Amino acid sequence: MKVLVIGADKGLGALLPGVLKEGGHDVAAGYYNLEGYSGDTDDDILRLQMDVTDETQLLKAADRLKEKYGELDAVIDVAGILLNDDREKNLLEQPLESIRAHMDVNALGLLLAFRSLLPVMAKGSRFFAVTSEGGSFTLAGTLFPAYSVSKTAANKFVQVLRLTLAEQGNTDVDLIAVHPGRMNTEMGRTTANMEPIDSAYGFRDLVEGKTKVDSSKNWFIDYKGNPMPV
Ligand SMILES: NC(=O)c1ccc[n+]([C@@H]2O[C@H](COP(=O)([O-])OP(=O)(O)OC[C@H]3O[C@@H](n4cnc5c(N)ncnc54)[C@H](OP(=O)(O)O)[C@@H]3O)[C@@H](O)[C@H]2O)c1
Repeated sequence: MKVLVIGADKGLGALLPGVLKEGGHDVAAGYYNLEGYSGDTDDDILRLQMDVTDETQLLKAADRLKEKYGELDAVIDVAGILLNDDREKNLLEQPLESIRAHMDVNALGLLLAFRSLLPVMAKGSRFFAVTSEGGSFTLAGTLFPAYSVSKTAANKFVQVLRLTLAEQGNTDVDLIAVHPGRMNTEMGRTTANMEPIDSAYGFRDLVEGKTKVDSSKNWFIDYKGNPMPV
């Protein structure tokens, strides 16, 4: 399969290209900062500059992907931020710029990435939007507040975009929100109960269809395919 990972600089996103390659897939990886990238140098991976807040970069990457692969079978959009302000300050104290930055990357960034890549998605393809349990209304709390609100917006983008595609009779692409687990990464270090490599293998099973998903019933799932509460 032809698979794109967005947000491959570090954390879960940095592991996914290797895990997907190991599974025999053609892999492209999008970076927030491609110039600064110093990880795996496997030349088989198509590496692209893809800041999810920059529509010009995303459209340029989509052109390059079309040229190289024609169409994509799956996208995993892992890009996300959790700023220190949001670890330390509630919504009454936190600077608006910090709250806005979470919305820009975690919510609007997903919309921009999905819109830009839709023309290069194959019939029967899947777009996995990595959101978070923090975006659930049901699992309420005040931890990482701006982050959580932005992930709720991301989940809502997924729901509304799914309905929009259905209204347009577009059944080519299945857009799914995925909670990746509480991973031991730079972002998740204070709440982790698992390693990101386990999540990466979970995503590979989702991409390959080994983990069955009925998104008409559950469009928000975890990396093992279990339904998540909206
Ligand atoms: N860790 C957890 O426990 C946990 C729990 C629930 C959900 N999640 C979600 O899972 C995803 C991966 O989390 P992680 O723990 O692997 O986080 P991470 O280690 O902080 O990695 C986040 C990735 O997103 C990239 N990124 C940031 N801003 C971007 C932008 N504007 N455009 C493109 N890429 C951008 C980062 O690039 P740079 O390195 O260059 O900044 C990095 O590659 C995130 O969406 C996160 O919200 C994580």
